[in-house]
Amino acid sequence: MRVLGLESSCDETAAAVVVDGRTVVSDVVASQVKVHARYGGVVPELASRHHIVNVVPVLASALEEANLGLADVDGIAVTSGPGLVGALLVAVQTAKAIAYASGKPLVGVNHLAGHLSAVHLDNERPPPFPHLALLVSGGHTSLIRVDSPTAVRELGSTRDDAAGEAFDKVAKLLGLGYPGGIQVDRLAKAGAPDAVAMPRLMTKPETGLDFSFSGVKTAVLNRVRATGVPTGSDLNDLCASFQECVVEVLVRKARKALRQEGLAALQVCGGVAANSRLRAAMAEAGRRDGFDVFVPPPRYCTDNAAMIAAAGYHQLVAGERATMDLNANASMALPTGPAGHG
Ligand code: KG4
Ligand code: ZN
Repeated sequence: MRVLGLESSCDETAAAVVVDGRTVVSDVVASQVKVHARYGGVVPELASRHHIVNVVPVLASALEEANLGLADVDGIAVTSGPGLVGALLVAVQTAKAIAYASGKPLVGVNHLAGHLSAVHLDNERPPPFPHLALLVSGGHTSLIRVDSPTAVRELGSTRDDAAGEAFDKVAKLLGLGYPGGIQVDRLAKAGAPDAVAMPRLMTKPETGLDFSFSGVKTAVLNRVRATGVPTGSDLNDLCASFQECVVEVLVRKARKALRQEGLAALQVCGGVAANSRLRAAMAEAGRRDGFDVFVPPPRYCTDNAAMIAAAGYHQLVAGERATMDLNANASMALPTGPAGHG
């Protein structure tokens, strides 16, 4: 089944064609990073306007790259939440218009379910079900039990900033531009992770499988206030120390969740899954504890429409159909399927 995916929840306008939720035939992403960089973060109104300009050319490119017309597509999947409402509406309205005009079935996809599906794209060795997912992006940080593509249950999430948000805020404080996660990752490679003392995050048992990143962000802020923005090797050391602190808590809570759920496979997804230290530390923990680690290639970790087409495929196969009433839902929760226990 060929599914056309559309995504515009934040600052990427994306379209893709994916066969059977696995084989990527085309994958087009128009990034707005340059538009928002000068403001140090995504400006919702600008994001909406750029999605409007980009959505039709991006959609046309995805079909052209796949060498297909709309008539050759078996279904349409569009991100309907969570995200910026004005941004979401652009792909939702576009998808409804082409579904109406072509008579093709349509489904609304949860953006987080999309991130969970990215690991199946062009992957001959995807994780078995059930498995644990650590979803770490700019907007979300969650541990999720995944029993099947459509049956998931959230076990814990962040109480304040998302991991990617903490990376971006720290990068901004250090004058590294937006989005800064990748810059922190780059500079940290030349730094010492134990050079700067950081607060130990969420170690108390009552914090369960939840996260909090505001403490480490404040520690960096206080240091910058006291001694100014570091340069050279001091900057590398601060990036490495901050990153190590975030990675450490992500690894610790993932191990705890795997033990609690009796699972032996972990996937890490979302933009922060592109972080080189997190990938290495998780692989190391897997070797030590005996669990398998699955991480999509970086281009499928960050926002794209192939993952939306992959998630939408399972909904279409299950017989789900959206009507012309489909709307954007900015705070949409992850759908909890029947197979999740508890
Ligand atoms: O999944 P994503 O593209 O968008 C959301 O759904 O939020 O994630 C974007 C986030 C940003 O916060 C970005 O700084 C972070 O992922 N990110 C990274 C790296 N690459 C992207 N954070 C740390 N290290 C990286 N290499
Ligand atoms: Zn995302």
